[in-house]
Amino acid sequence: MYITKSTNYKQKNSMKDTFFIKKTIELAKKGLGETSPNPCVGAILVKNGKIIGKGWHKKAGGPHAEIIAIDDCGKRGEKTEGSTLYVSLSPCCHYGKTGPCTEAIIDAKISKVVAAMSDPNPLCHNTTTIFKKHNIEYTVGIMEQQARELNAPYLKYITTGLPYITLKMALSLNEKISGQQGPYITCFESRKYVHKLRRNVDAVLVGINTILADNPHLNVRHVKGKNPKKIILDSSLKIHFDSAVLRDGNALIITTKKTSEKQKNLLSKKAEIIVVENIKNLKKILTLLADTGIRHILVEGGKKVAESFLQHQIVDKMVVFIAPIIIKKGIDFSLASLKWKEKKIKKIGTDILWEGSLFPKNKTDEKKIKKSREKNRNKKRNHER
Ligand SMILES: NC(=O)c1ccc[n+]([C@@H]2O[C@H](COP(=O)([O-])OP(=O)(O)OC[C@H]3O[C@@H](n4cnc5c(N)ncnc54)[C@H](OP(=O)(O)O)[C@@H]3O)[C@@H](O)[C@H]2O)c1
Repeated sequence: MYITKSTNYKQKNSMKDTFFIKKTIELAKKGLGETSPNPCVGAILVKNGKIIGKGWHKKAGGPHAEIIAIDDCGKRGEKTEGSTLYVSLSPCCHYGKTGPCTEAIIDAKISKVVAAMSDPNPLCHNTTTIFKKHNIEYTVGIMEQQARELNAPYLKYITTGLPYITLKMALSLNEKISGQQGPYITCFESRKYVHKLRRNVDAVLVGINTILADNPHLNVRHVKGKNPKKIILDSSLKIHFDSAVLRDGNALIITTKKTSEKQKNLLSKKAEIIVVENIKNLKKILTLLADTGIRHILVEGGKKVAESFLQHQIVDKMVVFIAPIIIKKGIDFSLASLKWKEKKIKKIGTDILWEGSLFPKNKTDEKKIKKSREKNRNKKRNHER
């Protein structure tokens, strides 16, 4: 039910909506790194200008933000009847791991729902119709851009079937990515930042040469948070049995039929192994990974792997650290080849950080990407949040 009001009333209302939606986005952020494959969602119940309940989605399979906010209201001894629900993503209307939020909203006699953005998941398309049928006023599209950024990996999977890709590279001033004296190119603050990125993704991915050259752990040490899965592209299983990355049993090696059963059996004691037809077909590999629940991958190199991802035009976000050092001999990585669509630049410790998205290589590619996204948009995904 949409009611026409005076411009003054509308302005005041939209300021109020923005104020509370901003709070739902802040609440939703508390779930970052914990809710995958589900989106991060925050919800607030407001009555007579007062917050009477709030909640955020904490874990996939657990109650949705709306349900937690309704329960919180009960705990505070408040009544939900006639209140307004603010939520950072439109409420679901289907049975998944939990019941439909639309039903709980109707049962709680909430009279108005304001959502930052609507969920493109085809399973959620009936929400508007349900609210209309029950005379619940429904507004969508407040601070939509911020809400989209927060759930970019979820939205990418739902609309394309692919995981969201963040590609991180660390370079010296003269564009070398290896050959430094000492174990690291970047300063401690930059490495801490990388650990923050790691704790918010489902998996970190590297090529076998990086494992052989650096023997990295690829875990989260400098900040608190969960360790991501570690994916290694290794077509002939060159990885050493005692590699640091294999120590916690959280590694996934992608390999090919080139490898012997004996090698696979031995390594399968330490890691999950997936055999693919063509290890260069990244889109196929990524679709497979996304369908197992890996919706955000941090690609951490090296050069060949980074170039493969860039050539396939599947990088959503690029993160580049530039350290104030010159490396005489090492592997080059050209920054000039990156065509930035938008980029934020900031100082981090003694390094410079460039962060942003890239343009498709040309107009034809841009059209192709758009077309494939349109084709995939309404496909039902293996996702019942
Ligand atoms: N500064 C940084 O940000 C950074 C980050 C990471 C690494 N590094 C440095 O980079 C160096 C390693 O880089 P690199 O270019 O030699 O190797 P890499 O990218 O680490 O690994 C490349 C290898 O991965 C395998 N691979 C399997 N599928 C692939 C695919 N679809 N695309 C690309 N590679 C695939 C191939 O080996 P097989 O054919 O045997 O499968 C390929 O030779 C190291 O010196 C390391 O220290 C720097």
